[in-house]
Amino acid sequence: MCGIVAYIGPKDATAFLLEGLQRLEYRGYDSAGVAVAAKNGLKVCKVKGRVADLAAAVPARFKGTTGIGHTRWATHGVPSDANAHPHTDVSERIAVVHNGIIENADQLRALLAADGVVFTSETDTEVLAHLVAAHSGEGVELEDAVRAALGQIVGTYGIAVLDARQPDRIVVARNGSPIVLGLGEKEMFVASDVAALVRYTRQVVHLEDGELATVRADGFRTFTEDARTVTRQPSTVDWEVASYDTAGYQHYLLKEIHEQPAAVERTLSGRLDERFATAHLGGLNLDARELREIRRVKILGCGSAYYAGEMGAQLIEELARIPAHSEPASEFRYRNPVIEADTLYVAVSQSGETYDTLAAVQEIKRKGGRVLGVVNTVGSAIARECDGGIYLHAGPEISVASTKAFTSTVIAFALLALHFGRIHDLSPADGRRIVAGLKALPDHIREILKQEEQIAELAAAYADNAGMMFIGRTRGYPVAREGAQKLKEISYVHAEAYPASELKHGPLALISPELPTVALVPDDELLDKNLTTLGEIKARSGRILAIAHRTPEAKLIDHCLVVPKSEPELDPLLLNIPLQLLAYYAALALGRDVDKPRNLAKSVTVE
Ligand code: G6P
Repeated sequence: MCGIVAYIGPKDATAFLLEGLQRLEYRGYDSAGVAVAAKNGLKVCKVKGRVADLAAAVPARFKGTTGIGHTRWATHGVPSDANAHPHTDVSERIAVVHNGIIENADQLRALLAADGVVFTSETDTEVLAHLVAAHSGEGVELEDAVRAALGQIVGTYGIAVLDARQPDRIVVARNGSPIVLGLGEKEMFVASDVAALVRYTRQVVHLEDGELATVRADGFRTFTEDARTVTRQPSTVDWEVASYDTAGYQHYLLKEIHEQPAAVERTLSGRLDERFATAHLGGLNLDARELREIRRVKILGCGSAYYAGEMGAQLIEELARIPAHSEPASEFRYRNPVIEADTLYVAVSQSGETYDTLAAVQEIKRKGGRVLGVVNTVGSAIARECDGGIYLHAGPEISVASTKAFTSTVIAFALLALHFGRIHDLSPADGRRIVAGLKALPDHIREILKQEEQIAELAAAYADNAGMMFIGRTRGYPVAREGAQKLKEISYVHAEAYPASELKHGPLALISPELPTVALVPDDELLDKNLTTLGEIKARSGRILAIAHRTPEAKLIDHCLVVPKSEPELDPLLLNIPLQLLAYYAALALGRDVDKPRNLAKSVTVE
């Protein structure tokens, strides 16, 4: 969702601001803006639309060496030039960019309006600009004015504030929405996401919630809301700069699908123990004795992370024989959940920023529960809030729809399930079977990716329908759900996922030549049942695309994609790979904006 960038140093700020904003486009936004402190005051330019529109609108004389920029995803008020950030105070001296939500904005608005402030936008953020201005009388340092303003605010924020009278600094603050400082040579960068910074510096400082920083060209000072100085050591971003580019692929999504063999290798790297036929997970912060006391596992995530959690729950139940269940974090957090001491909670998030997932973690912790994170982004809010966890090391995922992070999440769960299983009753022989199965996965994925051309043809043929049904049984059901989700997200073709066993209890009524079915048909103990279901669909003239380990009889299907067989517990992960390509090529055939589908954001940082 919204993105923040800021620059202070010897160079013209605008070039960095525009490039940084472009790097944050993937997060989803509807308007963009920049402000710089120029000799004769602030210059502000903001537009509804793309960063390219903003770049075209910035006048040639828009010069300044201190500046802030923003991409906005509308919450309070429609996408418009006026509602775009930065927002300024009445005298146009203070400019603010803000990610998050100010919950008491209406009350503050009323108070400020009573004092004669005339608002120029419908946003919650504008309140903040007026409050900072109200607190910055003659001789008051900008950081003190910002602290005072934040003291009046209830809500979440990542902010960057500029004062035309104090152009030697930018003040930033974080509470629930990330802010990262990037350290350069006699210049400093700020962003809400390292993706905007990595081309300029890899030395970064992540602010903690409740912290502020004064950023100057030659350094920074971090402090708390009550003005206590805190010391923060820089860390190094370890993701390759090149992984933020499309590397010659037409879209990030396609590139990320193809990166999966390497991403899986990284997720597995150093974690498989062949001698004891188990997995090593250094970040769990739980020893074998503590793990043995766990009676249940509850997995929480949103969107694809939730579906990856469903696959994870099956792996844990099958390999460790511990009851496990995945639930949308967005539901869990609102239903006053019972938190049990012998349940292990696992929060799943690629970005580590999803607000609903973060709120679920906070709710569990408030009630004394223990939470592990399965997270891709190192140092993210969710990773930091958890008691321990597993980093995916999948590399940055830019396309809105999740592919490689999804696969790496399932791998992380396979490792967790193996580790758990070997502490419980999983035999060494079965442990070895899973270890060997995991090691073979990257090659299996490579084999599936070779069928890209055939999948592209099928996708174009099937994309032409108003909808599609996805069915799978037990292990295949989460695959069907994720497959349907991917198709919906990026092609806007309606897709419904059902357990194959449930088809005859309702949705069979929908089956017709106009509603084709994607059927997951692994060669497992339920093969016969699945073949019966195919027969039932065919008897209603339904068209079927099977994803199978071997092609079923011709009379049962219209098309089949054959995937290599792994261990039964790991098969779902492979069955999902063709569905990613199917969704991608369906979206391509329909001319969709594949990497930035309408109405969606990569990281949903609001409720
Ligand atoms: C958004 C994205 C989805 C993603 C979900 C969870 O809704 O559009 O693709 O699966 O957030 O994201 P997370 O970063 O928590 O895994």
